[in-house]
Amino acid sequence: MKKLMAANWKMFKTWDDARATAQELVDLSASALPDDREVLICPPFTAIKAVSEVLGPVPGFSVGGQDFYVREEGAFTGEISPAMLKDVGAGFGLTGHSERRHVLGESDAYVGEKTAYGLAAGLKVILCVGEMIEERKAGQVEDVLERQIRAGVADVARDVDPNDLCVAYEPVWAIGTGEVAGPREILEAHASTRKILQSLFGDNANEIRILYGGSVKPANCAEIIALDNVDGVLVGGASLQGESFSQIVLA
Ligand code: 13P
Repeated sequence: MKKLMAANWKMFKTWDDARATAQELVDLSASALPDDREVLICPPFTAIKAVSEVLGPVPGFSVGGQDFYVREEGAFTGEISPAMLKDVGAGFGLTGHSERRHVLGESDAYVGEKTAYGLAAGLKVILCVGEMIEERKAGQVEDVLERQIRAGVADVARDVDPNDLCVAYEPVWAIGTGEVAGPREILEAHASTRKILQSLFGDNANEIRILYGGSVKPANCAEIIALDNVDGVLVGGASLQGESFSQIVLA
């Protein structure tokens, strides 16, 4: 199983800046990328094509969309379909990111519908889950993971190709705050995630990658990526510069 080193650029970067950052990342990391790692960048929609032109020819590097809608086309103002993502070179899509759940109001059920739709439409999907600080303080971490994962994969085939589905554990309180979850918190949450996936997908679950996200930086990535059941990272702020993301990718 290759570790997936993923960047989520959120609502940052113009076309030119996106292209320059992707190129800098390739220059700094492509020749040294270990065989057991792959790299993904999820730019804003407007910069996907620019980034895919840079990454397309580079082995081990790919591009994804941060979101998509659950129809192929139609009168859905403002939305983007998986087919449109693929058309500009994106092979991955995110679902259930905490900002979409908690800022844009997406429900567990809609995240599940989107995850199944994206897979059926030929995207690889990264389903993001994670608890808020109040839920952690109330001892509800495992309950939240169970609820979000079960709803998130409710309509996903039990024999899904495990290479097509990833789960990203992103505790909401660690996103963009500089407050990274400690090794024990990550180990516990990732072990719970694996157990929940095993109850749903059997042995297939052992090949589903579980990523950690939340204030990953060059200084903490090596320690995080070495933990049991951590099969990659999903990085926001520290992925916005080619220099710092290259250090994460190679950590
Ligand atoms: P930060 O790395 O900025 O904490 O963001 C994490 C995240 O939300 C990635 O999807």
